[in-house]
Amino acid sequence: MSSPDNRGNGLFGVYIHWPFCAAKCPYCDFNSHVHRGAFDEAAYVEAYKQEIGYFARQTRGRTVQSVFFGGGTPSLMDPRSVGAILETIGSYWNIAPKAEITLEANPTSVEADRFRGYRAAGVNRVSLGVQSLREGPLAELGRRHTVDEAIRAVRLAQSIFPRSSFDIIYARPKQSLSDWEDELKEAIWLSQGHLSLYQLTIEMGTRYFDLWNAGKLKMPDEDLSADFYELTQELTKDAGLPAYEISNHARPGQESIHNLIYWRYGEYAGIGPGAHGRLLLDGKRHATAMEKMPFDWQKRVLTRGHGMATDDILSWEEEGDELLVMGLRLREGIDPNRFATLSGRRIAQTQIDELKRIGFVETLPNGFIRVTDKGWPVLDAVVADLAA
Ligand SMILES: C[S@@+](CC[C@H](N)C(=O)[O-])C[C@H]1O[C@@H](n2cnc3c(N)ncnc32)[C@H](O)[C@@H]1O
Ligand code: SF4
Repeated sequence: MSSPDNRGNGLFGVYIHWPFCAAKCPYCDFNSHVHRGAFDEAAYVEAYKQEIGYFARQTRGRTVQSVFFGGGTPSLMDPRSVGAILETIGSYWNIAPKAEITLEANPTSVEADRFRGYRAAGVNRVSLGVQSLREGPLAELGRRHTVDEAIRAVRLAQSIFPRSSFDIIYARPKQSLSDWEDELKEAIWLSQGHLSLYQLTIEMGTRYFDLWNAGKLKMPDEDLSADFYELTQELTKDAGLPAYEISNHARPGQESIHNLIYWRYGEYAGIGPGAHGRLLLDGKRHATAMEKMPFDWQKRVLTRGHGMATDDILSWEEEGDELLVMGLRLREGIDPNRFATLSGRRIAQTQIDELKRIGFVETLPNGFIRVTDKGWPVLDAVVADLAA
């Protein structure tokens, strides 16, 4: 099957990675670094401006539908730095009038004090890392805020930004289903439009991994994890905040545009230390990754104009696999015709039929294939079957 040149879907976003945190949380394997000593933030922001220019020159004519400041902890940034970066983005690309401009924030009171500055700089959505609404677990997760501070930060964000969301980590050690039921009901009550609910995962290289490996951290078994997940789906659906992605819940119309660009397999420029991007250049999909170490990245940008560590052209097969991995996380599912366009082959009908027979996937009236409630807990296996 031949594959046409047009491999895109018109979606384009910009991801800005801010790599610094006040402390390293024991469960986190994101590219985040605690930096002590002198730091010239204005000079560091110059590197972002240069790297934005580098990517913008390769992607002229795109309209930016979303900008996402992720981390690390972008709420440690001076609002003037956020403003300067947004201004640079606007000087190179068109920014859609209704573009979503999100900043990830930690809910300490110090950071909440900067919210108005971020709003004035152009941020119109914040995503707060609340993580828990219980004091003990917050301390165990190594968080530097209290429940009260988090609630105040959420309320303040809701009064300043047109849209906001917060993250909670559940299925934590020692957490019971009924504890979670109470906590989740409080989270739903506190939320406005969007909630991200992540089951705790043990990531290699973290302090939690060492503790778990030494038998000092008891994680829920598979059955209990599935019960946690099911309860989460039920309560959020009943409250009008259904999952539109495996861990993300929104009232219809309040979904995160930025995250949808990833999951619908659009294009995004990944800027800053350790950022990943996917760009269609001359009909080929590039997977880009920047140097991870914050100050090595800065040096590279200053000498070469970008901090690229790797720039790989994906094969058709890899593109098809990525479309499935990303798209099947979504409630809306994937378009099998787009899979065929990207990968040059069709998903085997026998695989689809077999997965339908056991109730793991379904075909929607628009022809999209999606994973059912029953299939979601075994998503990885379903994706592997469809990709085979
Ligand atoms: C980039 S991180 C954190 C952003 C921000 N610095 C914070 O801590 O709030 C984005 C989200 O991933 C989630 N997360 C990080 N590590 C996790 C893990 N091991 N298991 C489950 N969720 C995790 C947390 O909910 C976190 O808010
Ligand atoms: S969870 Fe957030 S604050 Fe904690 S180390 Fe990771 S990025 Fe930093």
